[in-house]
Amino acid sequence: MKPSGPSRRAVLAGASGASAASLALAGAHPATSQTAPPAPGADMAVTLEVNGRSHALTIDPRQTLLDTLREELALTGSKKGCDHGQCGACTVHVDGRRVLACLALTASVAGRPITTIEGLAGPGGDLHPMQTAFIEHDAFQCGYCTPGQIMSAVGCVKEGHAGSAAEIAEYMSGNLCRCAAYPNIVAAIEDAKSRMDVA
Ligand code: FES
Ligand code: FES
Repeated sequence: MKPSGPSRRAVLAGASGASAASLALAGAHPATSQTAPPAPGADMAVTLEVNGRSHALTIDPRQTLLDTLREELALTGSKKGCDHGQCGACTVHVDGRRVLACLALTASVAGRPITTIEGLAGPGGDLHPMQTAFIEHDAFQCGYCTPGQIMSAVGCVKEGHAGSAAEIAEYMSGNLCRCAAYPNIVAAIEDAKSRMDVA
């Protein structure tokens, strides 16, 4: 029987990218300085550069990047697993490096390039080699951890920490999987490494 719900491809690509733009515009605020400190207790204006698009927002200075992505920009591919920096489900890239979005204040990443799972595929919608490898190696079950696993895996390869299965396991140890898909995840990363341009 054909399963219901989103396709496996949609899970890997991030399911809500299409609605992000409209919601971001709905919350838009005239851009102001990214460096001016807010008055005590006041909201602050920031501009976020997410997946190649600029978003002018007014935020609480205490707001995390994960909450901003999910609640303000409707980019819900980044998951909230623990909200305490312990599971890796919220992993995104900032300045090309993996970052736990639940521990990063939105204000601290204003103006810096941010990539989420929704922005990992190519402009034509072609899946990133890591996304393709996760599908081919059946590297997920429920899929909840998968966006974070993929973003972290891309970082792991780019950092040069995918030299062996043991090294991959070590440098992916911050990404937990309740479904214990670890052997398939490692196999996917080893495969994707050979297809990625990491020069
Ligand atoms: Fe960020 Fe768990 S939600 S590490
Ligand atoms: Fe279910 Fe990882 S696939 S938590």
